[in-house]
Amino acid sequence: MLPAVKDYRALARRRLARFAFDYLEGGAEDGQAMARNLASWGRVTFQPRALVDVSEVDAGIDLFGRRQALPALVGPTGLNGLYWPRAEEVLARAAHAAGLPFVLSTASTSLIEEVRAASAGDLWLQLYVQKDRRIAESMMARAQAAGFSALMLTVDTMVHGKRDHDIRNGFRMPIPWTPRLLADLLAHPRWCLRMLRQRGSPQLVNLARSSGMAADLQQQAAVMSRQMDMALTWDDLAWVRRHWRGPVLVKGLLTARDAVQALNAGADGIVVSNHGGRQLDGAPSPLEQLPGIADALRGKMRILVDGGVRRGSDLAKARALGADAVLLGRAPLYGLAARGPQGVAKVLDILRGEFETTLRLLGATRAAGLDASYLA
Ligand code: FNR
Repeated sequence: MLPAVKDYRALARRRLARFAFDYLEGGAEDGQAMARNLASWGRVTFQPRALVDVSEVDAGIDLFGRRQALPALVGPTGLNGLYWPRAEEVLARAAHAAGLPFVLSTASTSLIEEVRAASAGDLWLQLYVQKDRRIAESMMARAQAAGFSALMLTVDTMVHGKRDHDIRNGFRMPIPWTPRLLADLLAHPRWCLRMLRQRGSPQLVNLARSSGMAADLQQQAAVMSRQMDMALTWDDLAWVRRHWRGPVLVKGLLTARDAVQALNAGADGIVVSNHGGRQLDGAPSPLEQLPGIADALRGKMRILVDGGVRRGSDLAKARALGADAVLLGRAPLYGLAARGPQGVAKVLDILRGEFETTLRLLGATRAAGLDASYLA
C-alpha cells in the first residue's frame, strides 16, 4: 500500500535506470527553482470553516466549456517512453478514466494519432516551435484532425536549461550507449526488458512525422534542440491563432506583465510555470507569482499553474490563490515509472482523494467556490 505520491517517487527511483530517473526528476543547475517550487506549497495556510454540511462535495470544474473531475490536468512531458512502453497512450487513458484532460508534448514518444486512438478523452497539444514553421503547422493540423481541443504554446524553452545530471550521466538524444549507460541498464534488468519490448530506444516520433524525416534519431534530436526558433515573439501568437481553432494558452509565464501581454496578444489562458524548475534556475516559484498575476488579469483569462504539485491539497491552494487548475508534471510520471498504467491511475486517485478530503476539512462544498477567504 503506497499512500502518497512521494511513495511512488521512491519506487520509481528504485525501478528506473539512474539516467532515466535523473532526467525525470532533475532541475536545472543547482536545483534551486525546483526546491522553491516544492517549498512554496507548504507556506500556504488554510482558514477552514466549521459546521458546514459537507456530506456531498463537488470536486469538478468547468474549463473552456468542458467539465472535468478535478481542477487538474495531466501536463505535457517529453520523452515519456523512457519510463514505460507506449507511455503517452497510458497517460492519456488514465487521465480520461480519472475525468481529466491530457496534454501531449511535442517531444512525445507516441504519435498524436496513436494517442487519439488510445483515448476518447479530452486531449490538448503542447507546442514547441522550430525554425521551420511548417513542422509546428503540420503538428497543429494533425492535432486538429485528431480532435484535440486546446493548444498550449510553451515559451520558456528557447534553449534547454543546463541540467548537470544529464551531462554527468552522459544522457542525451539520441541515447549514446556508452559503457557507463550500459552498466546503469544492467543494474535495472526489469526496466531494460520493458524498453526492449517497445520500439527500442524511445524516439521523438511526433516531431519526426511532422518534419518529414525518417527514424533518424540524430536528426530528431537536432530538430528538437538546435532548431528551436529562438526568434519567437508575442507577434507570433497571431500565427498560432491562424492555425488553431480552439483555445490557445501560453505556458511558461511568471510575471503579471507577461500575463497582460498574453491577454493583449489574444491568448485564452496562461500557464504560470517555471517548467518544473528545469529551465532558469533563478526563476521564482509559480505559486508565489500567482496572486499578483491573478490580480492583474481580473478573470479575463484562464490561469493554470504548475510546479511541485504532489498533494490533493495543492489543488485547493492553487484555486484559492487565483488559478483555475493545476498541471501535474512529475506526479503521474512517478506512478508510471513505478507501476505503469496501475501506478498512474493510483497517483491520480490519491490526488482526488486528498483533494476531496481537503474540501471537506475546509468546509467547502465546491471546488469552484474556493477563493482567498479559505486562506489565512
Ligand atoms: C517537463 N515539462 C515540459 N513542458 C513542456 O511544455 N513540454 C515538454 O515537453 C516538457 N517536458 C518535461 C519533461 C519532464 C521529465 C518534466 C518533469 C517536465 C514541464 C512540465 O510540463 C511542467 O511544467 C512541470 O513538470 C511542472 O512541475 P512538476 O509538477 O513536475 O514539479
